[in-house]
Amino acid sequence: MVTGCLVIAVDGPAGAGKSSAARGVATKLGLRYLDTGAMYRALTWWLLNQGLDLTDPAVVAAHARRPLIEVGTDPARPAIAVDGLDVSGPIRGRAVSNAVSAVASISEVRAHLVAQQQDILARACAAGEGIVAEGRDIGTVVAPQATVKVFLTASEEARASRRSADLAADPGATPDVTRDENKRRDRADAPQTVMADDAIEVDSTVLSLDEVISLIVRVAGERGFPLAGGGNPGHARPGSHQVPENSMPPSRADTAWLR
Ligand code: DC
Repeated sequence: MVTGCLVIAVDGPAGAGKSSAARGVATKLGLRYLDTGAMYRALTWWLLNQGLDLTDPAVVAAHARRPLIEVGTDPARPAIAVDGLDVSGPIRGRAVSNAVSAVASISEVRAHLVAQQQDILARACAAGEGIVAEGRDIGTVVAPQATVKVFLTASEEARASRRSADLAADPGATPDVTRDENKRRDRADAPQTVMADDAIEVDSTVLSLDEVISLIVRVAGERGFPLAGGGNPGHARPGSHQVPENSMPPSRADTAWLR
């Protein structure tokens, strides 16, 4: 359990803009940054590389603890390695994207990676640093005590178009194929993608990246954390997690940044 330092949870479905928003907030506030999705992807990459049958939950569960997954927490240079090998490129490919939901749905996998994620959060806090963690279950499972919880959504159309743009270089990723793959992934990820009761729901379809970042930074400030430099609080203020209406920035359709 992590208490007494600034932990910002950014959850939501794929393509809603979590990575850009979470990295932007971490950079602005001088916090660490954790991409938990990259950890599920890294494990999936390793399992695929071993030639294992990922449709068999028992096989995946039996091998989940074998690779050493190391994730960096510098928002300027997100890094992910498996057994010492940099896999930041390969984990974004279609093979991993299409297999990762099945791996992430296995309880042994989640228990193992959630424990690692909680350890990373605890170490950041012990070092006197706050952290922004992005994923699907940060506000509910990894860090239910997080000071700020944001559930980032976007219209189906905006999320699909962003994910198609990500795959533009892959000739196999035709619009129809991409749409079907996205739908399948959304369905498979839904049980893990849970909005905490005390989370603020933010629709990124109608906000610019700067507006989403400013909103999250402002909420952190309202909870008693400094608005720039360092995540060491002094005082954390429990209580309402609602954003006052006048905290919402003006709406603007600008979805090019979603990731
Ligand atoms: O956010 P992403 O697309 O990189 O996530 C990769 C996969 O991992 C996706 O299937 C959702 C899953 N995931 C999860 O189940 N829990 C998390 N905390 C983060 C990601």
